[in-house]
Amino acid sequence: MTSSSIGLIGLGTMGAMLALNIAEKGFPIAVWNRTTAVTRDFHAQAGDLAPMITPTESLEALVAAMTPPRAIILMVPAGPAVDEQIAALRPLLGKDDLIIDAGNANFHDTNRRAEAAAAKGELFLGIGVSGGEEGARHGPSIMGGGPKPAWDRVSEVLEAISAKYQGLPCATWMGEAGAGHFVKAVHNGIEYADMQMIAEIYGILRDGMGLAAPEIATQFADWNEGVLRSYLVEISGQVSAATDPKTGKPMIDMILDRAGQKGTGRWTVIEAQHLASAIPAIEAAVTARNLSSRLEARRAGEAIFGAAPTRLPADALSRADLEAALIAGKILCYAQGFDLLSAASEAFAWNLPLPAVAEVWREGCIIRSDMLNDMAAALTAHPGQNLMFAPRFTDYLKAGHDALRRVVARAAEAGLPVPALASGLAYFDMMRTGRSTANMIQAQRDFFGAHGFERVDTGEAGQHGPWGSHG
Ligand code: 6PG
Repeated sequence: MTSSSIGLIGLGTMGAMLALNIAEKGFPIAVWNRTTAVTRDFHAQAGDLAPMITPTESLEALVAAMTPPRAIILMVPAGPAVDEQIAALRPLLGKDDLIIDAGNANFHDTNRRAEAAAAKGELFLGIGVSGGEEGARHGPSIMGGGPKPAWDRVSEVLEAISAKYQGLPCATWMGEAGAGHFVKAVHNGIEYADMQMIAEIYGILRDGMGLAAPEIATQFADWNEGVLRSYLVEISGQVSAATDPKTGKPMIDMILDRAGQKGTGRWTVIEAQHLASAIPAIEAAVTARNLSSRLEARRAGEAIFGAAPTRLPADALSRADLEAALIAGKILCYAQGFDLLSAASEAFAWNLPLPAVAEVWREGCIIRSDMLNDMAAALTAHPGQNLMFAPRFTDYLKAGHDALRRVVARAAEAGLPVPALASGLAYFDMMRTGRSTANMIQAQRDFFGAHGFERVDTGEAGQHGPWGSHG
């Protein structure tokens, strides 16, 4: 066994994969799991990497097996388990020892833990890790938050285990305290919207155009050769191509249409509302997941109102329309996500490196896609600007918004729900409307509450209309 300064607690799927990744990159690692049998099995199955891994059977043994200054990664379920683990571990550690929470923590919890650690002079990092099981094992995207010196101490390891985009590590320090976990939450919000938009296009192919799963698989595979090339489009093709070993039918057709969620997308929406940031496509995606779980109600609704959707007329939409709509929708959902990051950066004084956020998402994470490289370039060239106004994306939107409009309109006529695409379109239309209808809202507010308005001619604020007691 080699003495290690890196440790890991929690050998669930993600923790086990991360530990193997660390060992494989040449860093000896000590591990501990609450259930000793899990630790033993993990070590027994580590193969060639076993000599790099020190399995331990108590927290004390974990700490004793490590060389100070230690860095211990927590891979336990987000929430109270993290606090319990920190409370049990901290008394065993020295002052220079670092605890790293690598779970999907709510950034408010990370802020609180960071504050508590700083007050006691202890070291704590909260890092967002994306890429699922495969990413954890072979290269995730890592979004760090906490004291920069603490990040610098472990950045060599984190960069080594991270995904690489053209040789560049996808592991970046985002800012103090909960900044890394906030960026990860927004990643997940975008993940929800990207997945939902793909699912809506899938719905049009399946129900509006009557395509069978293998044909849909081919379509996604084709799109994955173009501008839409991304992990999510790729796997959408793969899942559509898979056959159920039990029935021989397409696997996708055997899956109940009730989507789960662990809450990170919801957190993104809640924070956006707190910050008065507009992320309607992400909100629509979270709402769509919520509605998907109302299976009984949806079935009752179908019995009352009749089944939707109906088949589209043969020439209603082309496949090119669907591709262009998905490109436009995707840009709009990323524009919203980056806008939220920008608002949070200002509100929490994080100074988030937005181009670096796009760069760190180029490989390893669930939303990785070719487009993110262009987004990184746009955010670098046009700092502080909404992505939809950056020249390259302006071009895509000019070329694609008609198709998005057609897709949303035809889908609405056929009763095909496309909430995320429709929200993306509404966002686009609102963001290019110089004269909105909010003058009516202001008039109503003034009428019933004397809230006052600004005049368009003189620019004077606090004005009142000639109605009621203000007339
Ligand atoms: C990632 C994913 C991951 C996510 C799960 C489940 O970046 O690797 O975002 O962290 O938490 O895939 O998320 P839901 O259960 O909320 O869909």
